[in-house]
Amino acid sequence: MIFRHKTGSVTEELALIPPSKLAIENVSKSFRTSSGTVLALDRISLSVAEAEFVCLVGASGCGKSTLLNIIAGLEKPDSGRVLADGKPVTTPGRERLVMFQESALFPWLDALGNVLFGLKLKPNLTNRDRLDVARYYLELVGLTRFERANIHELSGGMKQRVALARALAPNPRVLLMDEPFAALDALTREQLYGDLQQIWTSRRKTIVFVTHNVREAACLGDRVLLFSPHPGRIQEEFPIDLPRPRDINNVDLAARASRIMHALKSFGQTEAAAVAK
Ligand SMILES: Nc1ncnc2c1ncn2[C@@H]1O[C@H](COP(=O)(O)OP(=O)(O)O)[C@@H](O)[C@H]1O
Ligand SMILES: [Mg+2]
Repeated sequence: MIFRHKTGSVTEELALIPPSKLAIENVSKSFRTSSGTVLALDRISLSVAEAEFVCLVGASGCGKSTLLNIIAGLEKPDSGRVLADGKPVTTPGRERLVMFQESALFPWLDALGNVLFGLKLKPNLTNRDRLDVARYYLELVGLTRFERANIHELSGGMKQRVALARALAPNPRVLLMDEPFAALDALTREQLYGDLQQIWTSRRKTIVFVTHNVREAACLGDRVLLFSPHPGRIQEEFPIDLPRPRDINNVDLAARASRIMHALKSFGQTEAAAVAK
């Protein structure tokens, strides 16, 4: 991208910063519902290295979003704690930003306005600097031509691109993604897998990515953690050492995904059997 007035603060703002390492220690969380208490997470422990891409997979209701929200500081665990670079996470912060399935964009702002929003709280930047930074990220997600588009004019894939640019713009150390591509068609998803891999490589973020799509997890993750429900636990861990960039249709990748799927299904059967007893 060519900056006409790239200032020192813009260069500083766009600089790569060290990604965080995360430690999740013995995190438990239960919810009281009308039908009783649900143990959403049962003593979850997990370490995520700097710039690692970890995928959490599992059936609906096994606690993936709850864990992500606790890592984000949006929810508090009943017991246990989350450390980011050794410091306890107690509140949400700019260092750890979340991207949700529904883009949660502001419909009254255009694409550029949405990306600018997250930069409001950066006192070291002038308005001109903020524009440069926001445009840098819109370009990174391939939306330069659409900066003035209204949100309702954008396709689902483009909305998620804006949401990704908005999450990246404040230069967080950790990106937390909760089924960000679940509502998109297969072709759009495939393009986004390619783009996300590229962005992760170029911007160096620690990513925790939640999905119920096993193939997606195998395509993106350094590691795939399989969750089991009721109570939510990490059932099994699958390192994925395939070279990048990965193509979702790659045969080796399909083989890895099928192993994970097998584990997921066999667990489902065990659970069904346990319930039947
Ligand atoms: N705010 C809440 N109030 C009551 N129950 C909740 C709440 N959030 C999550 N749960 C319950 O906790 C369990 C885990 O939910 P969640 O983390 O959303 O799972 P996942 O993201 O894997 O689908 C589910 O049984 C869900 O119904
Ligand atoms: Mg969820």
